[in-house]
Amino acid sequence: MISKDIEQKLIALAKEAQERAYVPYSKFAVGAAILTETGDFFTGCNVENISYGLTNCGERTAIFKMVADKGPKAKIKAIVVTTKADIPCTPCGACRQVIQEFSTPETVIIYKGSEGYSRVSMDQLLPGAFTEFVALDHTGSSTRIQKGI
Ligand code: THU
Repeated sequence: MISKDIEQKLIALAKEAQERAYVPYSKFAVGAAILTETGDFFTGCNVENISYGLTNCGERTAIFKMVADKGPKAKIKAIVVTTKADIPCTPCGACRQVIQEFSTPETVIIYKGSEGYSRVSMDQLLPGAFTEFVALDHTGSSTRIQKGI
């Protein structure tokens, strides 16, 4: 849970970030703002590419900035996604998986839905997320690999 004041601050930060979006192709500017578990704020915007598939969404830009600045143990307490003209935008599938990587059961994801801002948990945003697998080596022995460090 985060306070209404912090949520408003995150929305304002995301809206500032969306002004910096590089969106010559879609013209759809997206902003994101993160509050980490240690109380730090990070922002991101979408950065498009002429080779469309290389586009980086606002959410992932913010998350990669968070890790680059705070290191691999950083965790998201809350992430807000905003768009120009307040057009509804839920995090895309790729971003859901990347948010999941740095989330906890308490992480809150806030985005503009069709009726105001929606607040959801990671379990609601990406039920049954891929968070572990079994790796086999050449001898046939298996190791369980789980999300995180
Ligand atoms: N976009 C985001 O930045 N975040 C999302 O979760 C959905 C989509 C961007 C990617 C692209 O630049 C534009 O929105 C249109 O898809």
